[in-house]
Amino acid sequence: MSKYLDNQPTPSEIREKMEGYTSWLEIDLDSITHNLHEIRGRVGVEVMAVVKNNAYGHGLLPVAAHLSENGVSWFMVAKTQEAKAIRDAGIPGHVVNMDAVFTESQFNAIVKKGIIQVVYTEDVAKRLSAAASRAGREAKVFVKVDTGLRRVGVDHSEAADLIERVAALPGVTVKSIFSTFMQNPEQDGAMLKRLLEVDGELRDRGIDIEFRSMASSDAVFHNPEGWLDMVRPGMSLYGVFPEAKDVASGLDLRQALALKARIEHVKWVEKGDSVTYWGRFIAPRRMRVGTLHVGFYDGVPREMANKGRIKVGSEYRGSLGSVSLNHYLLDLTSMEASPGDVAEVIGREGENSLVKMAEASGWMVYSLMNHLNPFTPRVYLREGKPVALLDLSQERLL
Ligand SMILES: Cc1ncc(COP(=O)(O)O)c(C=O)c1O
Repeated sequence: MSKYLDNQPTPSEIREKMEGYTSWLEIDLDSITHNLHEIRGRVGVEVMAVVKNNAYGHGLLPVAAHLSENGVSWFMVAKTQEAKAIRDAGIPGHVVNMDAVFTESQFNAIVKKGIIQVVYTEDVAKRLSAAASRAGREAKVFVKVDTGLRRVGVDHSEAADLIERVAALPGVTVKSIFSTFMQNPEQDGAMLKRLLEVDGELRDRGIDIEFRSMASSDAVFHNPEGWLDMVRPGMSLYGVFPEAKDVASGLDLRQALALKARIEHVKWVEKGDSVTYWGRFIAPRRMRVGTLHVGFYDGVPREMANKGRIKVGSEYRGSLGSVSLNHYLLDLTSMEASPGDVAEVIGREGENSLVKMAEASGWMVYSLMNHLNPFTPRVYLREGKPVALLDLSQERLL
């Protein structure tokens, strides 16, 4: 076990805290392990886990620690503070940072903490080299090549020259050249060819790159040629098919995340009564209405107004009216339910899965996951038992 997962409250301490939570996320670590094995079994190359943005809402450190225990030794983040957090937690493995860096203290910290920086300009590479000299350490880099996405990266036509210069800088080692597919089958083949041409040119100049990488989940699903030496899955690791067509890829994925909330209040409303803001739900009959203490604070999109499917026991119930910052109403007519009972707002499968909520709200499933509030507590399960807790609200606010 890594230090991080070793230093957790006991299952009964976690359960006791959960009794008082009104909204929380449950992350099934076994599902993440399962998805990792599925991906590894398919690609047979190095897997770099994309844990950027709080591991797509799942919680950075518990997820990274768990993946590390399951043999993942590469992590990718998009914020320097996330790279530092992984290093400071003592989680074994390499961390690749895609954040832009501007200050000398940032360069110093990156080198001192052994973070692998993404570079695509000579200026940034030189500043890293200078930081490496100051610290008497090596700076490892991934060079981002723009093969046609035109977002960031050195243009493929100039990449070999830049990489040759970067590789010659004192204290700098180029570990990888990587790029990002457009995820358009008509363009992706040409993009792959461009990266391989850069690699070929470098080999001709006597520079052997250890990892060539292009594939995120989309290419893991659909584009074996793009797997190269390392794939970089995010969504698939968390068990989500971003698009309906991805299901046919045959990977067996299990969504890891569920959002739970407690019923705060139960009451009867009469036929013709409206509930919540703007009166956009009018009771068609006498109804028993429950109010959950969860809302768009936690990440439930406001576009779920009147569209939610919420599981109570084994039944799905419809949400009623608008979504509030901290409240979400549902129909509890002819059902046993009282304050304190737990409802499942996002389920791991079925009518309230992440994908179903994304469809209903018109959000992209990436946006949905990446807007889950980091302050909503997260409980981590193994074999159904709580083994870790991430509760930033306790640490920072109370
Ligand atoms: C460079 C890079 N690689 C891989 C990924 C993972 O993508 P996905 O979640 O679609 O697997 C991302 C996420 O946006 C990324 O920025």
